[in-house]
Amino acid sequence: MERRTIGAASLEVGAVGLGCMPMSWAYSGSRQRGEESLRAVHRALDLGSTLLDTADMYGPFTNELLVGRVLKERRAEAFVSTKVGLLVGEQHIVANGRPGYVRRACDASLRRLQTDVIDLYQLHRADPEVPVEETWGAMADLVRAGKVRALGLCAVGARAGRRAGARLHDGTIRQLERVQQVFPVSAVEAELSVWSPDALDALLPWCTARGVGFLAAMPLGNGYLTGTLTPGEGFEPDDLRARHPRFTAEMMASNQPIVAGLRRVAARHGDGVTPAHVAIAWVLAQGSHVVPVPGTKQERWVTQNASADTLHLTEADLTELATLPTAQGSWD
Ligand SMILES: NC(=O)c1ccc[n+]([C@@H]2O[C@H](COP(=O)([O-])OP(=O)(O)OC[C@H]3O[C@@H](n4cnc5c(N)ncnc54)[C@H](OP(=O)(O)O)[C@@H]3O)[C@@H](O)[C@H]2O)c1
Repeated sequence: MERRTIGAASLEVGAVGLGCMPMSWAYSGSRQRGEESLRAVHRALDLGSTLLDTADMYGPFTNELLVGRVLKERRAEAFVSTKVGLLVGEQHIVANGRPGYVRRACDASLRRLQTDVIDLYQLHRADPEVPVEETWGAMADLVRAGKVRALGLCAVGARAGRRAGARLHDGTIRQLERVQQVFPVSAVEAELSVWSPDALDALLPWCTARGVGFLAAMPLGNGYLTGTLTPGEGFEPDDLRARHPRFTAEMMASNQPIVAGLRRVAARHGDGVTPAHVAIAWVLAQGSHVVPVPGTKQERWVTQNASADTLHLTEADLTELATLPTAQGSWD
């Protein structure tokens, strides 16, 4: 697989990463299978998909434990990205950016991941009660202590309070400017896909201008862009799509022209090319420092997604994808 470099620290990873979240979090729990997930992570490493994206809150904790079982055997082949700053309670998720907590959380992640160093440690969300410089300073100390190789920041989601007229990522860019004064940012992780291209406006250019890598979360539109979901199919209550405004029966039907566009492009590239391939190849085409992290718990999808790096979209393909209808259904 093609290799890509992210950030000033020259971190090298396979061009297509693996999002480990669906193995333990956010997608229907009844479909989670530990052994199949383990096989999926092994398959990713076999194929050169070295970047494994996890977080302490996925599970919570069980996703890191799962990744740790693979790292125990194959640490040298993997690049592990995990996250700190969000705590899962009984009813809700809260931010904690206190330096003492960050230090303890890192030690706990290292234990669960069965490793002595995290390649990319990301601030999942800034804590409104703690100046972000303080949290970031504690994370920088972890780099100096050799527990972490590089730091990343996850973008603030669409639902976070936004000033009237502000662009989606203005708040994240303000945070990035502040933490950059304390210690270099190596990577930013944010949603980027054919149906959610907002990061192209300002966030990705911010990264490009500063040599910061970009991890593209949800590159498959939570599965929708693969064309394997049927409008009206139900989602279990613990599946994020049960509450996601783009996954009502009506919105799934309205957004079908986007899937049709991906299918048209796929068909031009021959048998076996899928909408998922095109969705991932579109993300790869956004810059040589952009690494999509498609999420899956299935070995077959890992295999399919990893092969997207051999699909080279033409200018005509990219133009067609750029002119697809805007996705219907928004959190705002
Ligand atoms: N930093 C953040 O705040 C943040 C937020 C969200 C996500 N993330 C990261 O980004 C990663 C990707 O996001 P995501 O997993 O939510 O969304 P995604 O990658 O857009 O889509 C995942 C969904 O697509 C399905 N899928 C994957 N490959 C497929 C294929 N080739 N054909 C058909 N279906 C396929 C998966 O099914 P199965 O589950 O059945 O395999 C899963 O339901 C996450 O795993 C996580 O690591 C980060």
